[in-house]
Amino acid sequence: MRVTPWEVSGHIDYDRLTKEFGTSRITKPLLGRLEKAAGESHFMLTRKVFFSHRDLDWLLDRYERGEQFALYTGRGPSGDTHLGHLLPWVFTKWLQDRFDAELYFQITDDEKFVVKEGLELGETTRLAYDNVLDIIALGFDPNKTFIFVDTDYIRSLYKIALEVAKRTTFSTAKAVFGFDNSTNIGTTFWPAIQAAPCFLPSYLKKMNVPVLIPAAIDQDPYWRIPRDIAPRLGYYKPAAIHNTFLPGLQGSDSKMSSSKPESTIFTTDKPDDVKKKIQRAFSGGGATMKEHREKGGNPDTDVACQYLYQMFEPDDKKIKDIFDDYRSGAVSTGEVKDILAKKVIAFLTEHQKKREEAKKKLDKFMLKD
Ligand code: TYM
Repeated sequence: MRVTPWEVSGHIDYDRLTKEFGTSRITKPLLGRLEKAAGESHFMLTRKVFFSHRDLDWLLDRYERGEQFALYTGRGPSGDTHLGHLLPWVFTKWLQDRFDAELYFQITDDEKFVVKEGLELGETTRLAYDNVLDIIALGFDPNKTFIFVDTDYIRSLYKIALEVAKRTTFSTAKAVFGFDNSTNIGTTFWPAIQAAPCFLPSYLKKMNVPVLIPAAIDQDPYWRIPRDIAPRLGYYKPAAIHNTFLPGLQGSDSKMSSSKPESTIFTTDKPDDVKKKIQRAFSGGGATMKEHREKGGNPDTDVACQYLYQMFEPDDKKIKDIFDDYRSGAVSTGEVKDILAKKVIAFLTEHQKKREEAKKKLDKFMLKD
């Protein structure tokens, strides 16, 4: 298992990961508190797609005392947006709606330029604005959502990043990110830029604002440095809530990733391609139809079942029925794939329409220097 902000591979053991990263599982009482404050539950919480956190209990203490928090999340534009990216954003929208919270959305064209071989800055900036369309298409509140592309907002971020960078030794950065002598210095400084938005709402409002970061657990290393130094800067530590990974089409031992297009459904894929990709997805079913009918399949490893569970079938009763029938062999892999393909195609058809409309709305959302 390898989980860093830039690479996720191997079989992911989330229990081990929470221990190694030092995060906390979302316990039942904490889940209850969050649901109570939100006024409803969300299937990604009850199904433990969002499974871990840092200081969520502290954030709720503040909220219950009447202190409004802001949300912060982001995207590194190294390619087209895929369904895995949308997963935390769908949940972020729910958080924004339920808590009437401002959202700060960082697009890191600079990160993808310094970290990735073979990507030019012009290309990551172009991708940044293209990826923004996917964010707007999800329906975030234009009055409460502030999206910024780093290279076009660096003047505002830079002062905060400097405060962070000055208080972060190379030894700490090495321990957190595994840097060595061959790491370019753009990359060694860069974590200060992803730390900056943790304090941006406080900086802009000139008062301390609690911040909650919804993101997959691969991003957690980035929060260790700002959490360490927040007290020294007089800011609150950012709180975080972590999701598991939507697997790649090839199976649960991989995450959906832009760098592996064959494992990925992009938000711009056409219905026929979506259908073909899903038909080829890893199956947890029997090798033959006969074997499947006799022995049944395993929904925990079946990619189509997992996509329904994590993202595309919010109805608990329907999920239970599909999983029971799949386990007993009454429902085949092909049938589950058909159910999923219909859902994904319906979702993407609507999303692509909204993505087109988003082109006219950019100004309402973008923060620029
Ligand atoms: P990026 O572009 O790699 O990922 C964007 C968001 O999607 C999550 N994610 C996934 N979630 C579920 N299943 C997957 N297969 C999957 N793949 C990616 C990521 O955890 C992330 O939440 N450095 C960041 C950009 C960034 C950021 C942030 C992200 C800047 N500030 C604050 C989160 C929060 C990046 O490259 O994300």
